[in-house]
Amino acid sequence: MPELPPIEFVDPDRLLTLWRAKNKMGYQKKIASKGFLHENSRTLTSFLGQHGLPEPGSTVFELGCGSGRNLHYLLGVEDLKLVGNDLCRSECLKHMEPQVKQRVRFIEQDTLSLLQGDPFQVDLLLASDHFMHLPPESLQTCLNLLVDRWSPSFICLRECLTARLKPRKKLQAPRWVHDYSPLDRAFRVIAEQGVADPRRRDSAETHYTLTLFRHRG
Ligand SMILES: C[S@@+](CC[C@H](N)C(=O)[O-])C[C@H]1O[C@@H](n2cnc3c(N)ncnc32)[C@H](O)[C@@H]1O
Repeated sequence: MPELPPIEFVDPDRLLTLWRAKNKMGYQKKIASKGFLHENSRTLTSFLGQHGLPEPGSTVFELGCGSGRNLHYLLGVEDLKLVGNDLCRSECLKHMEPQVKQRVRFIEQDTLSLLQGDPFQVDLLLASDHFMHLPPESLQTCLNLLVDRWSPSFICLRECLTARLKPRKKLQAPRWVHDYSPLDRAFRVIAEQGVADPRRRDSAETHYTLTLFRHRG
């Protein structure tokens, strides 16, 4: 078991160590399990559907896709190409629905180094509960790479609305509220939806938002 990072930190390497440890301790099983997270995935799918997305035959790339609960609800769209990355292939694939596993091209790589590599041709880029876990400096680099090199046609973000930098429990990851203004250079927001977490409708902490950006080009 790797040494755990201290309570407050922004060192990307230590964060990767934390996330790999979480993955090995059953995290992917937890988020794959049926329940409130699946309700969130259905909400995401219907939000996209209201905007005619994803289009049949297009390529959807989910950054930090985990065990693919979101991709699962897109399987009905004809001829989609599904790609996703995350940190621990064995853990993610172990808890992925067989239908998703058959269809997805899974890349075991951290998001920053993936975006620094050769860009993929992507129609819809998804980041669900993912960017909020990347430290601000890394995330700003990721956003610049998305604008300048990857240029997907659409980006859909699902984010919590509050930061939590002081983990309360062992293996709890910090999360940040980020500045997405670098995207303004090439994208504009075409839809936004606030959604209460179905577990705790009364708690501001667990509210999240869905935002859809369209490339200006
Ligand atoms: C809250 S989960 C969300 C998973 C999935 N997007 C979903 O909505 O079910 C965050 C995911 O990000 C992954 N992750 C964390 N840091 C990462 C990084 N630097 N690069 C790639 N994946 C990372 C974790 O392993 C985990 O699967």
